Amino acid sequence: MTAEQVAPGNLLKVAVVGAGGISHRHAESYASTGRTELVGVVDTVAEKAQTFAEKHGTRVYPSVTELLAAEAPDLVSVTTPPGSHAAIAIEVLAAGKSVLLEKPPVLSLAEMDAVAAAERTSAGSVYVVFQHRHGSGAVRAADLLGSGALGTPQVAVCETLWFRPRGYFAPEWRGTWVGEGGGPTLGHGIHQIDLLLHLLGPWRTINATAVRLDRPVEFEDVSTASVIFESNAVATVINSLLSPRELSRIRIDTTEGTLEVNHLYGYSDADWTYSPAPEQGDPWTASAGEDMPSNHEAQLGRLVDDLLTGQKHDTTLAATRPTMEFVTALYASALTGRSVHRADLTPDHPFYRALNGGLPQTELSEAFTP
Ligand SMILES: NC(=O)c1ccc[n+]([C@@H]2O[C@H](COP(=O)([O-])OP(=O)(O)OC[C@H]3O[C@@H](n4cnc5c(N)ncnc54)[C@H](O)[C@@H]3O)[C@@H](O)[C@H]2O)c1
Repeated sequence: MTAEQVAPGNLLKVAVVGAGGISHRHAESYASTGRTELVGVVDTVAEKAQTFAEKHGTRVYPSVTELLAAEAPDLVSVTTPPGSHAAIAIEVLAAGKSVLLEKPPVLSLAEMDAVAAAERTSAGSVYVVFQHRHGSGAVRAADLLGSGALGTPQVAVCETLWFRPRGYFAPEWRGTWVGEGGGPTLGHGIHQIDLLLHLLGPWRTINATAVRLDRPVEFEDVSTASVIFESNAVATVINSLLSPRELSRIRIDTTEGTLEVNHLYGYSDADWTYSPAPEQGDPWTASAGEDMPSNHEAQLGRLVDDLLTGQKHDTTLAATRPTMEFVTALYASALTGRSVHRADLTPDHPFYRALNGGLPQTELSEAFTP
């Protein structure tokens, strides 16, 4: 989207599709900027749309088509379950408008490329919510690692150790490929995986394991991966829904120190530490600034700023493709028992169209049994 689409001094017209749990964070984050007008909401369940509209002071539309025709919003937040993101994004793009997709943006690389193709012929753009790229700690880490000020990354650990009891999977859509699209690799660990890749750059090879130990799901309830990056740095990644003392952690050992963030569902600056190697300086502490926690307000505030000032917001669909490639490769490696190279993930790869490789459920069940 270009600056010309929103005249100087005007409000950015935003809308929300999907009025469930996370949609309220979108409405509140937009409102907190003071520079948006929430022009409408759509939900397949009319009462949910009505409750949202009353709470946030907007209008209900029965469909995305009617919302687009009546309001011509500049930006549409898509906060529906992930299986519906691609179709809604393509419809919004066809109307020449921009989209903000919740994570995971889509369920496969094929869907991602279909949305990217629609974006190429649209006046609109596609952005993705990965709020942990946008807290001040990650912004500082990306700058300092990018400039080499913290040395060269060599070893990393990326942990999403969360707990979801069996009851969490009671709703019909949960625990299924059709409803959720995947297990903790796609739905939960993706936040930390995205941040790890944002900080360390392109990955090259993945060797993974994914097993179902306890929960009533069609896919894994825990996965692990051993990763080699283009830079030759190595990392281990674990994604679990079986871990009673929950944590989210990334640790990066560079030639000059250890950078670590230790949090659960969002960090602030106090959750980051840097331990210099002997005789090294401490550029981390020296560069401390304003503390911005890694929440929706951090990313949506920046997105609104960028769109109103005509700058390119950096968390684009294209910028998050490596994360979907990583998730795809983790499933492909775990389910085939082979290493997967990033370069392997071409449109004729069996996992390009579906994270389960299109394998029959009986075969998948066997593959996820340790
Ligand atoms: N960034 C984060 O930290 C974060 C946190 C939670 C959820 N999420 C993501 O947000 C998305 C929504 O999650 P949620 O927890 O709010 O789910 P939810 O089930 O609470 O809400 C989804 C809503 O979408 C509606 N809906 C379903 N299909 C629709 C369609 N085709 N058109 C219009 N409305 C439709 C449902 O009726 C429901 O009200 C998911 O992609 C999820 O992964 C992100």
